[in-house]
Amino acid sequence: MAEQRAPIISPSILAADFTQLGEQVKAIANAEWVHVDVMDGHFVPNLSFGADITKAVSRVTELPLDVHLMIEKPEQWVDHYIDAGASCVIFHIEATEDPVSLARDLRSKGVRAGFSLRPGTPIEPMLEHLHEFDEVLVMSVEPGFGGQSFMPEQLEKVRTLRSYIDEHDLDVIIEIDGGISAKTIEAAAAAGCDAFVAGSAVYGNDDPAGAVEELRRLAQAAS
Ligand code: DX5
Ligand code: ZN
Repeated sequence: MAEQRAPIISPSILAADFTQLGEQVKAIANAEWVHVDVMDGHFVPNLSFGADITKAVSRVTELPLDVHLMIEKPEQWVDHYIDAGASCVIFHIEATEDPVSLARDLRSKGVRAGFSLRPGTPIEPMLEHLHEFDEVLVMSVEPGFGGQSFMPEQLEKVRTLRSYIDEHDLDVIIEIDGGISAKTIEAAAAAGCDAFVAGSAVYGNDDPAGAVEELRRLAQAAS
């Protein structure tokens, strides 16, 4: 049995009120991380924000920034996000030819390296490379938009990762992203997730900090 870690809650500012972004980031100061969803209108159909907004967020919080790049050619852009204050840079394996080289580049520059994958992308080919990463972000919705429904079948990927990581005693965090709420977080925690992105479940609540606390409590009880 692997040692139990406290759940990490990472609110996605994609669901925040952008006219009050600084206040909205401060409103979730009780979270472990802040999730920053970068979309380029190419890798995904939607456009969100880039490195300048990421930097502005880093100025108003001490929390680590968990930067999720839903962009093409991430290798050309990662330095901007490192400069902007990212703690972990997560890129999509569908968007780059050599994920391992990019992970090594990130780590050599002093940030944590993560990869993500679309719901239809299998995890198996990446298992032998997991030790090159600090984090895997399992998408439980099709990337591109907040507020979508959780895809429970993606938990199979989480179970595969959990077994592999525990068997090989790797220090890799499994994070899940998309449709996480008080209704779905327990199943995700039971499947073996360590970290949970939540956009609408946090910022759609009148009390974002209370929502973070409740999600953490549910995840803790189920893991
Ligand atoms: C989707 C993003 C998610 C999204 C989560 O492309 O990566 O982080 O904002 O939002 P909710 O929690 O509303 O599904
Ligand atoms: Zn995300």
